[in-house]
Amino acid sequence: MSERSCEPKRIIVTGGAGFIGSNFVHWVVENQPGVHVTVLDALTYAGNRANLDGISADRMTFVHGDICDATLVDQLMTDADAVVHFAAESHNDNSITDPAPFVRTNVEGTFTLLEAARKHGTRFHHISTDEVYGDLALDDPARFTEETPYCPSSPYSSSKASSDMLVRAWHRTYGVDATISNCSNNYGPRQHIEKFIPRQITNILSSNRPKLYGDGLNVRDWIHTEDHSSAVWEILTRGRSGETYLIGADGERNNIDVLRAILEAMGKSADDFDWVRDRPGHDRRYAIDSAKLRRELGWQPKRTDFAQGLAETIQWYTDNPKWWRGAKEAVEAKYAAQGQ
Ligand code: NAD
Ligand code: DAU
Repeated sequence: MSERSCEPKRIIVTGGAGFIGSNFVHWVVENQPGVHVTVLDALTYAGNRANLDGISADRMTFVHGDICDATLVDQLMTDADAVVHFAAESHNDNSITDPAPFVRTNVEGTFTLLEAARKHGTRFHHISTDEVYGDLALDDPARFTEETPYCPSSPYSSSKASSDMLVRAWHRTYGVDATISNCSNNYGPRQHIEKFIPRQITNILSSNRPKLYGDGLNVRDWIHTEDHSSAVWEILTRGRSGETYLIGADGERNNIDVLRAILEAMGKSADDFDWVRDRPGHDRRYAIDSAKLRRELGWQPKRTDFAQGLAETIQWYTDNPKWWRGAKEAVEAKYAAQGQ
């Protein structure tokens, strides 16, 4: 492992039209004035070009394309100092219904990018998830660290674990200048309405009852997406090559508490929701120990007031019905067919 300092001026952001990718692109444009971003995004059901509205052409180029397209990826990489790789199929429930696109995009897509990074000597930062570590019991005092063995549960998390392994191997075998970050559950603006928090907010805004899986006691470790962005930048520019960094903001909460906080913030009764069928293989608890990132790189989360972050997120969906209304009926029909 080597000390490094990288000052990229031209970066490729894959998946930059999705939830976390678009928030990262906005963060870079606002906080890193000398950096030009090329977004590579296939605009799947989860990608939305409008997520990048307002960014000027001198700061960002948008390329509509697939990370599995080796010719396109190779061509883009000739002119880049670094790649930040967010593009993925990201939703566990979808991976249970149809795992094939998860293997293709998350594994083959990462392979395609790594091959180009190897050829061009491009710095590579891989965005991954805490789900690669499996889950913890509710009463376990432990949290995930960089040393926790991989034990993914779902087709989604196993495809992400596979992609992490490719990155590790390409670093060790070919010397690709790579880092990995595994982050906990993000929330904030522009998250697809299939996901827990925006699904419940938009259910209430649509006069549907929110839906809670299983016994509602599963715990997720929530982080505001802005804090994820600042952590990724620190790792991209100052993280040690070959290293993994866990990103988390000490935000453990169970699902029923989060749902009740949404209901209360939206003026509804705390019991105004439906219990629905549990997710098969549903991970019980995620919890991140981000001490390494804080110690080595001095990173600190800033958006740790969950009630405020939630209120702003509710406001964003309230103010932007055009962004989500068109997708709502189909998302709910899909869930209804699954008993969820
Ligand atoms: P998302 O589903 O909102 O966005 C994914 C983006 O990738 C979309 O814009 C989509 O069009 C694009 N994409 C999908 N397949 C592609 C392909 N073959 N080629 C090019 N682009 C493609 O996902 P998200 O929630 O923003 O997650 C982004 C990344 O962060 C993923 O790698 C995910 O595993 C990781 N992650 C997510 C969370 C979370 O809480 N959402 C937490 C930790 C890590
Ligand atoms: O931990 C990081 C992961 O967080 C990311 O890698 C994934 O890309 C991201 O989607 C997220 O995965 P989860 O499966 O934790 O997120 P989701 O929003 O789907 O669900 C959060 C919790 O809420 C989970 O315990 C399932 C539950 N849930 C979800 C939905 C959609 C419900 O109770 N009701 C729902 O309607």
